[in-house]
Amino acid sequence: MILAPAGIVGSILLVLNAQLGLTKVVFSPSSYDWSDYKYKHALSSTMQLPEGTPVGIPTVQFAFPAESAQESATRKTRQKAVLDTFTKGWASYWGYAWKRDELAPLSGTGKDTFGGWAATLVDALDTLWIMGLKDEFYEAAGEAAKIDWAVTEDTSVNMFETNIRHLGGLLAAYDLSREPALLSKAIELGDILWAGFDTPTHLPPFMFDFKQAKNGKLVLEDNQSSAAIGSFALEFTRLAQVSGDSKYYDAIARVTSLFVSNQLKTNLPGMWPMFINARKGTFEQTAFTLGAVADSFYEYLPKMHYLLGGQEPAYEEAYRDAMETAIKSLLFRPMLPDKDDILVAGSAAVAGGKATLNAKNEHLGCFAGGMFLLSGKLFDISEHVDIGTKLTNGCIYSYDAFPTGIMPEISQMHPCPSFEECEYDASKFTDTTLPKGFTAVGDPKYILRPEAIESVFYLYRITGDSKLQDVASVLVEGKPAQEDSMESFWFAETLKYFYLIFSPPDTISLDDWVFNTEAHPFRRPK
Ligand SMILES: *[C@@H]1O[C@H](CO)[C@@H](O)[C@H](O)[C@H]1NC(C)=O
Repeated sequence: MILAPAGIVGSILLVLNAQLGLTKVVFSPSSYDWSDYKYKHALSSTMQLPEGTPVGIPTVQFAFPAESAQESATRKTRQKAVLDTFTKGWASYWGYAWKRDELAPLSGTGKDTFGGWAATLVDALDTLWIMGLKDEFYEAAGEAAKIDWAVTEDTSVNMFETNIRHLGGLLAAYDLSREPALLSKAIELGDILWAGFDTPTHLPPFMFDFKQAKNGKLVLEDNQSSAAIGSFALEFTRLAQVSGDSKYYDAIARVTSLFVSNQLKTNLPGMWPMFINARKGTFEQTAFTLGAVADSFYEYLPKMHYLLGGQEPAYEEAYRDAMETAIKSLLFRPMLPDKDDILVAGSAAVAGGKATLNAKNEHLGCFAGGMFLLSGKLFDISEHVDIGTKLTNGCIYSYDAFPTGIMPEISQMHPCPSFEECEYDASKFTDTTLPKGFTAVGDPKYILRPEAIESVFYLYRITGDSKLQDVASVLVEGKPAQEDSMESFWFAETLKYFYLIFSPPDTISLDDWVFNTEAHPFRRPK
């Protein structure tokens, strides 16, 4: 296959293909071409993408038996309810915010939160495909293939968000539809983001400033989110695999090397601090978490092992070391009146060489259940399947506990001394207006986040427990205050995971696909 590069020859080829009816999406190049960008901070060599045949990858999904007519009928009714929710939202986006980054659902307008590059449209492409909305998919893909990355009102763009939403979205849409125009658009964007790694430490900045980047003068911060630095691995690896260009893999492999070589030297050996010094490439801070600010860096370790077919052992080693520490210092069993056997991913602060647990319960931390479950299967660690199950049940518990049926963005609980059951001590819970087991609610919002349903999805596909389909269909009661914002991950992640739970298990099977942190499925090389 010829992979058409961004540029004039590529677009002629694609137009010809389209006229011959071989492809339906027509590529239109951006007005500024980053493909010939040369690094100002020299590299002595390029790390090559490992491309051998996958080794030692076990089956991940449960061997589901055929469903009964009754089960099928219930499943389809629920699936239809998710589809209807999606199409209702999509019609509003189409009508009120087409090609904008986000729909503002109360005011019925659009807003641009990520460079004005149609974030919701790009983020939703693969969901449209998976839900069988092919006309809508091709309409949106046609627009995505015309995005001009040089046209933006902003002088800089958030590298992490652009990578997980736009690049991840285009790659998954390409993997599903095989439309070359989407790959060409992904390569154009990949070339921009790749320039973001041209810094003295070869770590990317938080914000990609176009002017600074063109001069090779991107500014790194002394205090930068570790997830925002370390969560390019899957997208850049998939881009290297489908484009055949190792330069994208090289950029993230350098970041991995730096993290791995510091992994056992941090204040909580095995884990990396939430914030790192990107300018110096050092890891000196004392706050650690699996939740916000650090989350997807950890999530990508087992997924990289999977996407690379086990060809690079560093990812499994890093995952095992990190989780050994996380299990000891961050996970806790909350004190509960009925002594439910659940776990929650908290955070820790280190002082004087000693880690102190903060029994925080974050919605963002709910991804951890899915990570432990997938890794437990991939690396054959039954303890991790068990922990992943209990973490997922911790999120289900937190959803059930609140009157809306939805857990808050941030709450506090009280930890048992160990993972063993402990007596409920009512004196620890002074705020009696809160559900039992919660000591405080730091942030009561729910912003359509996917992490809990994501872990329920992994638990269902891995254990085959159909009770999880009932859990996923809990109805929300009451009418809380509303925000004038519909994050693009509502289509990209939340509704996709709901839809997949009510789809036949071979729809985007976990044995064939690896999800990025925005729920974009990448095809796993076999
Ligand atoms: C880093 O930034 C975070 C979030 O803004 C802040 O809480 C933390 O104190 C900062 N750390 C340092 C060392 O500046």
